[in-house]
Amino acid sequence: MKKRGKILFWGSAFLLLLNFASTIYLNITVPNPEWDWSRIDTSKVSFPDKFLWGAATSAYQIEGGLYNNNWYLWERTPQRFGVPRIARDEKCGLAANHYELYKEDVKLMAEFGLNAYRFSIEWSRIEPREGEFDQKAIEHYRDLIRRLKAAKIEPMITLHHFTDPIWFVDLGGWEKEQNLAYWMRYARRMFQEFQSEVTYWSTFNEFNLVPVSGWLEGGFPPGKTDFHLFATVSKHMLMGHVQTYLEFKKLSRTKKHQVGAILAILEARPYNRWFILDWLAAYYEERIWMQAMIEFFATGRYHVKLPFRDSFTYTDTDGIRAMDFFGINYYTRTAVVFNFFSPTFYYRIQLPGFPKTDMGWAIYPEGLYFAVKRYASLGVPIIITESGVADATDTIRARFIQQHLYVLSEILRAGYDVRGFYYWSLLDNFEWLEGFEKRFGLFEVDYKTFKRTLREGSKEYQKIIRQFPGRGGS
Ligand code: NOJ
Repeated sequence: MKKRGKILFWGSAFLLLLNFASTIYLNITVPNPEWDWSRIDTSKVSFPDKFLWGAATSAYQIEGGLYNNNWYLWERTPQRFGVPRIARDEKCGLAANHYELYKEDVKLMAEFGLNAYRFSIEWSRIEPREGEFDQKAIEHYRDLIRRLKAAKIEPMITLHHFTDPIWFVDLGGWEKEQNLAYWMRYARRMFQEFQSEVTYWSTFNEFNLVPVSGWLEGGFPPGKTDFHLFATVSKHMLMGHVQTYLEFKKLSRTKKHQVGAILAILEARPYNRWFILDWLAAYYEERIWMQAMIEFFATGRYHVKLPFRDSFTYTDTDGIRAMDFFGINYYTRTAVVFNFFSPTFYYRIQLPGFPKTDMGWAIYPEGLYFAVKRYASLGVPIIITESGVADATDTIRARFIQQHLYVLSEILRAGYDVRGFYYWSLLDNFEWLEGFEKRFGLFEVDYKTFKRTLREGSKEYQKIIRQFPGRGGS
């Protein structure tokens, strides 16, 4: 008994010491930098002559009338005990009615001063049934593109923004490698249709988040929590991206097309910087969330692991730098708490002590700087393909924009090759699980009349674009 007590005592003392020594080391070598915003004059900015000043949207979130994809089904598949998937049991329905009102929306963009616009093509509209392409839908997007170009707004197409046609899901969707052939047929067709008018392309929006949310954490369709499936879907999306990239490079008549990969960048910090297991959890969370994919584009090797549980590796050297630009979607950073009982052995929370957006996300503008610095090592130009704020009362939008554009200006001043910035979003829209309450739009949308109104806070963005229009020669 006495001996056991001794072992317990010295064992605990040893673990405590180990915890201390390692966290002291980590606290010194991995700092948690924060800028003192009270001493920063955010009006001191400058931007290049040629710069993409855009806004971003996605089809499902604004178009309306989409009843043939996985999200349509998801909204109608309650969770356990009948709890609705979407806040307040909302349905996307007509969303911002952009499919009808797109001509007016292009005018709004032009009046605002944007010189770029990123939007997604809805696969389930283009190919409503397997192998049947809808020419009317193709012509709709062609008209949108032509109107953008006539208004001197550079289009960027996203081929996939979270939604899959129902027929594709029924065939096993992203879980099956052979289904990549369907994806490639759709992607190829879109490139053939629009390559003469559209220079900027992106494959999947946030294809790190899609497998995490859909197959590991289960919040997005198909709502699974299976590490192996999560990694398999990640692999198939990586393959889909690389194949699309290589195919577009081959098909490109001008060789000027820019095909990018867009990921959701979310740095993870240990919640308790004096607890080694929080550090470990933050390390694994960041790897699973984004680092493994980024490493794939740097080395050709994708490797994810949950210690003592499972691991997965996929290698393809064609993946190395398979992109003309790296698209960063940046909103916030997160804190990670170790929890042995969660399927991933951690959970994510927001860092306390920061102003928050309506999404509850901590506002951390300098994180954009650190993200660019970190991913510049990929060796390709960077585009900030999304950044923005949910702010229904429009009280923090102006400051949010000032701070983020100041950070962007500092990034450029430091010499990083960033080609553009797309504010999320042009219009208020359907914020996935959160429904319509979260208001990201430069323009407010009245969901009864679909009237658009420019928000006061958005004028900060307009002011900068007026001062630095970014329309210089190539
Ligand atoms: C990233 C996604 O691409 C977009 O669909 C979403 O609305 C914004 N983040 C805000 O959450």
